[in-house]
Amino acid sequence: MRVIGLMSGTSGDGIDVAVCDIDGAPPDLQATIVKAWSVPYEPEFRQRIFHACEQGSAVEICRLNMELGERFVAAIGDYAAWVDLIGSHGQTIWHDVDADGRVTSTLQIGAAGVIAERTGVTTISNFRERDVAAGGQGAPLTAYVDWLLLRHPQHWRAVQNIGGMGNVTFLPPLKDTESTMLAFDTGPGNALIDAAMLHLTGKPYDQDGMFATGGQVDDEWLKQMLKHPYFQQSPPRTTGRELFGTQKAKSFIAEGQARGLTDQDIIATLTAFTSHSIAEAYHRFAPTMPQEVILGGGGSHNKALVAQLNDLLPADVMTHEAVGLDSDFKEALVFAVLAYETWHGRVGCLPEQTGARHASILGQITPGTNYTALIRRTWG
Ligand SMILES: Nc1ncnc2c1ncn2[C@@H]1O[C@H](COP(=O)(O)OP(=O)(O)OP(=O)(O)O)[C@@H](O)[C@H]1O
Ligand SMILES: [Mg+2]
Repeated sequence: MRVIGLMSGTSGDGIDVAVCDIDGAPPDLQATIVKAWSVPYEPEFRQRIFHACEQGSAVEICRLNMELGERFVAAIGDYAAWVDLIGSHGQTIWHDVDADGRVTSTLQIGAAGVIAERTGVTTISNFRERDVAAGGQGAPLTAYVDWLLLRHPQHWRAVQNIGGMGNVTFLPPLKDTESTMLAFDTGPGNALIDAAMLHLTGKPYDQDGMFATGGQVDDEWLKQMLKHPYFQQSPPRTTGRELFGTQKAKSFIAEGQARGLTDQDIIATLTAFTSHSIAEAYHRFAPTMPQEVILGGGGSHNKALVAQLNDLLPADVMTHEAVGLDSDFKEALVFAVLAYETWHGRVGCLPEQTGARHASILGQITPGTNYTALIRRTWG
């Protein structure tokens, strides 16, 4: 089956589209990316997303929902005619975590009705809500697909996404039929670095980590930052821009400046905050320290971040390319696979992944004009 996966991440950088060929069923599911591309948001639109996330009114979010749907359609373009199904993650507006670390609500927008109406393709969206209703974190959803596609025959592996936030999946080897996976959000990914870069330099992100490389990490400040209560929580745990977004970046900048740091020192320390929060999470919570760490997401291009992870983790650190996947489009592939699984009536997440009471079939199906034909083709 040919499926488009659509991702609009926490970084608000743009829309990732992956046209995927998916066949089989777990445990023998095959998924490959046939073609993938990104459509960046212009800076003003990115700011509108962040505003909606951190201070948005109902009318703002309502309008953005429809507008994002139209943008997703434009990003897909003529490729709609090629595919059977669309899996759309949407744009997270809020991920509500209470004082005990329980997720009580989560909202992803980007009208699936608009996507199905304009493309004619049956669209599956709103993947997180069902798992939250079942007592889960509704995240990280990539972990089930990591489990399906990326277990090593002999070694423990960690799959580390560095998007707006960071999330990890610890995968037992295939030969180990007793152990289960463990997945959770490590903490910030690029979101704080991006917000601080924009504020300090006017640039949207720290290209290749070059700005951080020219600065000095303030070790004492870093130690204090790492006392953040989020890092004390045991998994399952997830987070978002609510904790590590623009507001937090602004308060860090003020603190860094009060310490007399240069802009480069501040970015260097924020970069170290991300890498240390990842490494500490491994040392504290990994069921077994993995032999391999597979990096994905935009942060895998940040050389300062990757160099620090190499230093901090006693493992071979590589990117998804080493296992035949594209680091930049892995998440879009994930939502194509989850849509495919939902379409076939199978679960898309496991209790050990999100802490839910049970596994769930995820998402909502919005029929396109191909709906009845697709049902007939799938079930005869
Ligand atoms: N060459 C690069 N050097 C440094 N950072 C980069 C580079 N390319 C991308 N990035 C960072 O990656 C970010 C985008 O990452 P990605 O698309 O994986 O995140 P996302 O869309 O927020 O996804 P998620 O939902 O996983 O958070 C950018 O905002 C930027 O900070
Ligand atoms: Mg992105």
